[in-house]
Amino acid sequence: MRSKLIFRDQLAVFLIAMFLMIFTTQAQPADRSLPHLVHKNGRHALVVDGRPFLILGAQCNNSSAWPATLPKVWSAMEALNANTLEIPIYWEQFEPQPGQYDYHVIDTIITQARQHNLRLVLLWFATWKNGSNHYMPEWMKLQPEKYPNIIGKDGRQIDSPSPHAQATLNADTEAFSAFMRHLKEFDTQHTVIMVQVENEPGAWESVRDYSPQAQEIFNSPVPASAISAMKVSPKSNRNWTEVFGRNADEFFQVWHVASFIGKVAAAGKAIYPIPLYVNGAIRDPFNPGWPPTYEVGGPNDNVFELWKAAAPAVDILSPDIYISDTKAYLKVLELYNRPDNPLFVPETIGSNPFTRFFYAALGEGAIGYAPFGMDDTRVFFGPDGQPLSPKERYEDTARNYRLFRPMASQIAQLNYEGRIQTAIQRSPVDSTADRGNSVDRKNYITDQSLHFEGWDADIAFGTFQRMARSRRQPEMPDGRILIAELGEGQFLLAGYHCRVMFRPTGENSDRMWQYLKVEEGQYVDGTFNADRILNGDQTDWGLNFTQPTVLRVSVYLR
Ligand code: DGJ
Repeated sequence: MRSKLIFRDQLAVFLIAMFLMIFTTQAQPADRSLPHLVHKNGRHALVVDGRPFLILGAQCNNSSAWPATLPKVWSAMEALNANTLEIPIYWEQFEPQPGQYDYHVIDTIITQARQHNLRLVLLWFATWKNGSNHYMPEWMKLQPEKYPNIIGKDGRQIDSPSPHAQATLNADTEAFSAFMRHLKEFDTQHTVIMVQVENEPGAWESVRDYSPQAQEIFNSPVPASAISAMKVSPKSNRNWTEVFGRNADEFFQVWHVASFIGKVAAAGKAIYPIPLYVNGAIRDPFNPGWPPTYEVGGPNDNVFELWKAAAPAVDILSPDIYISDTKAYLKVLELYNRPDNPLFVPETIGSNPFTRFFYAALGEGAIGYAPFGMDDTRVFFGPDGQPLSPKERYEDTARNYRLFRPMASQIAQLNYEGRIQTAIQRSPVDSTADRGNSVDRKNYITDQSLHFEGWDADIAFGTFQRMARSRRQPEMPDGRILIAELGEGQFLLAGYHCRVMFRPTGENSDRMWQYLKVEEGQYVDGTFNADRILNGDQTDWGLNFTQPTVLRVSVYLR
């Protein structure tokens, strides 16, 4: 047979490498190295127990991290099929009296997470929580002169802690160090895989602190490292206004918030060096407006360089994405995926049609993703005003996680190798417009194409009857597909509400092609197990993802 078969050297080497990796990690005792990040060619992976780890996460509600409420958290995690819980640690609970630390809540969370086969990302709710000081211990709140808020331009106190307060910095640094020291001692199994330092730091309502102390710093020379971070010409002894002009107020606040958190993070990391990140209440990527219409101080896309220079102990700057506009959401993913910054989405929306953004995040190389507010302390209401059942509450996210959990490590590895591309549906489809295509195999409906070595994958979103979309379409644009190139002409596909057609490209674009094999199945213990081979009507009209499905596909030229 003169077939140009796909099992080429490259594929064989890749598969052998995957096999060896899986075999050796299974045959040897568990890897006890600390959770850590690895970086290659501008891509990133989180490594847990020696293997790439994809965070299929969910964040509980703010006040759910108490032993009394934990059962309602675990029930939700189970329904979601999440592999990681993001859960706060409250400074006010952790340090009820100066220097006296209470570890019982942390230990309860870690112990019960293990019982539920979950990893943890712990959120250090301390100096900043959504820009405010609300999680500071009472003994700090009652000493506002020692632990001050910032002062607005009009002399009013703003509901946001000052990044210039040395006493606050010292207290946070000591408490965070005690917390990290305890994790190091207690969590020898590495149930905790990352720590978020603070929560959405910065200030609303005022672009910066205008207190006399802050004003004096503002009028003093800008640190050389801030100047070089922003690539401004280095003239010495110039103050913030002289160096940064109309951005001076914003950059001043960002630099001092980032420096504060950078010091807290560095102290914790010196004790226990697991990955640390900071989350931001991001600004609109296309129409950001002018501060303080957005929160100022956190890791917004315009101040990445300041953050990276001021807080090198922080590994990841992360966007909390509550944007519903598709273009804007995708732009945020793009902005936060950088060679110097792994993409991690620690908070987002967990219902349809937004859960298709999970695929978009994977297409941008995300190491993890976590919808917010997922636990049974909260009642969710449907469009009819009635409370949703647990299944309805979590199904949109669970549909993604059920499909990906068995192959989470493989997806993380494939992403690290740069083999994954994804597409998501942009807008609702009008099925009546497609009827004419019902028998035309050459001009089939295509909404988007993904490009691989020698092959394109043409994707049409919705549900299908042969070549045409079926008459009744999902009301929301919720189609999604992930395609990983395992080797030339060899692909792993996972998706929902779409159809995929392959097509040879370049010099072979007119050649006849066929599926060599289409297997439907799932990963079990690192190996793809086929439940059946699809053929005939199940492949002749394209590969249909009416239900969430995983396929392993090989195509060849005749
Ligand atoms: C973003 C914050 O980071 C969360 O803690 C929570 O307050 C949500 N907003 C509220 O939806």
